[in-house]
Amino acid sequence: MKRNIASARINIESSKLLKELNDSLPFDKELYKEDIIGSIAHSKMLYKQGIITKEDFLAIQKGLNELLEEISSGKIELNEGDEDIHMAIERLLTQKIGDAAKRVHTARSRNDQVATDFRLYVMSNNLEIARLIKEVIKSFLNLAKRHTTTLLPGMTHLQHAQPINFAYHLLAYVAMFKRDYERFISSYQRNNYSPLGCAALAGTPHPIDRELTAKELGFEEPTINCLDSVSDRDFALEILFNIATLMMHLSRFAEEVIIWSTSEFGFIKLSDKHATGSSIMPQKKNPDIPELLRGKTGRAYGNLMALLTTMKALPLAYNKDTQEDKEGVFDSVKTAKLSLMVLKEMVDEMEVNREKMEQACKVGHLSATDLADYLVRNLNMPFRDAYYLVGDIVNRAEELNKDISELSFEELKELDSRFKEDVVEVLNIRNSMNARDSFGGTSTKRVKEQIEIFDKWLSEIES
Ligand code: ARG
Repeated sequence: MKRNIASARINIESSKLLKELNDSLPFDKELYKEDIIGSIAHSKMLYKQGIITKEDFLAIQKGLNELLEEISSGKIELNEGDEDIHMAIERLLTQKIGDAAKRVHTARSRNDQVATDFRLYVMSNNLEIARLIKEVIKSFLNLAKRHTTTLLPGMTHLQHAQPINFAYHLLAYVAMFKRDYERFISSYQRNNYSPLGCAALAGTPHPIDRELTAKELGFEEPTINCLDSVSDRDFALEILFNIATLMMHLSRFAEEVIIWSTSEFGFIKLSDKHATGSSIMPQKKNPDIPELLRGKTGRAYGNLMALLTTMKALPLAYNKDTQEDKEGVFDSVKTAKLSLMVLKEMVDEMEVNREKMEQACKVGHLSATDLADYLVRNLNMPFRDAYYLVGDIVNRAEELNKDISELSFEELKELDSRFKEDVVEVLNIRNSMNARDSFGGTSTKRVKEQIEIFDKWLSEIES
């Protein structure tokens, strides 16, 4: 009689449609490595605890290592028949080594097995994504170091507001990426615990050592409660949230790169490596790369919402709904890693047009606030009065077709006789940028200080 491998009591073959709905092998084959490593650790523990013999363990270990090699090299393809990666590996191992393979599943269920495999995948990707973020941070810092004096119109509402420097703008992203980095690391630290040995839901009567398998697999310790461990997917939700937030940050930078590379702005030029053409307009150079970074953010949000919804109101413990946890995570993880690598390359190779950025600072009366501050400081004027007076001066500058920073002392004096000659210095754009010298501000001195702080943090996390 042909046995249904994942059922001892169902003796007829499953319906084709059921298999199509039920089987997860088409996507969870991604976890073959984790599954094999988990089974080796589990078997080693079974042997050390006297639950299986040394000979059986050695045969299992050898067989699994061979399978790992054969699957990695493509000699064995995992594509059909088996319900999931766990059953596929067990079947292949049984074919290879015979009866010993049938002992691997002692004191284990697919419920703790899948929770273990998936945690291993998510934990190593928390670290890998954090590493890639660190690389992006280095690129942003490198670029920032070259532009601590490059003036850039700082904006609010996408309207010129106050002069900043380009480094300062880049460092705002470094601050976001630092938080992203820390989020992935803290998710790793919070969730790096082993569910292996929890079995179906209640633990096992076998004298297992969960501490041993946890250490063997690089987990901190075993999880505390088995009922929780087989149904918990918080660790997957966390990486999805971390990626959604990371992609949101990427999308904001991508949007700015797209705007900055328009003919209207011309602040930056993407390397030809990171731009594409049009099939009809021969002159076109399109910023598809930042557009895709921006666009992929949508899917990353979707994956988070999907799993949150799947997990909502699930009764304890394992339910098959949980099988839906994987595809979105695989998708988000791949997207995040690729996006970070592309972003790094794009930033390393993009050309910055310093002149265009500085030129743009002469539009929009960026130093108007400085003039109001001058009136408050030098003439003891109440800020609100100064604010209105500067408004009149801006209107006058507009009439003269000038930016406020281009008004001469004579023109200013005509508007208010109390102005002294030093007012011209106050209106100078570079002086205005450097005047914002409070901690965390945009002055070149403060920006260099910020670079130092980020550099110091980098060397601390690297040591
Ligand atoms: N393929 C399943 C999953 O990904 C493995 C766990 C199956 N457990 C079960 N009792 N049916 O969730």
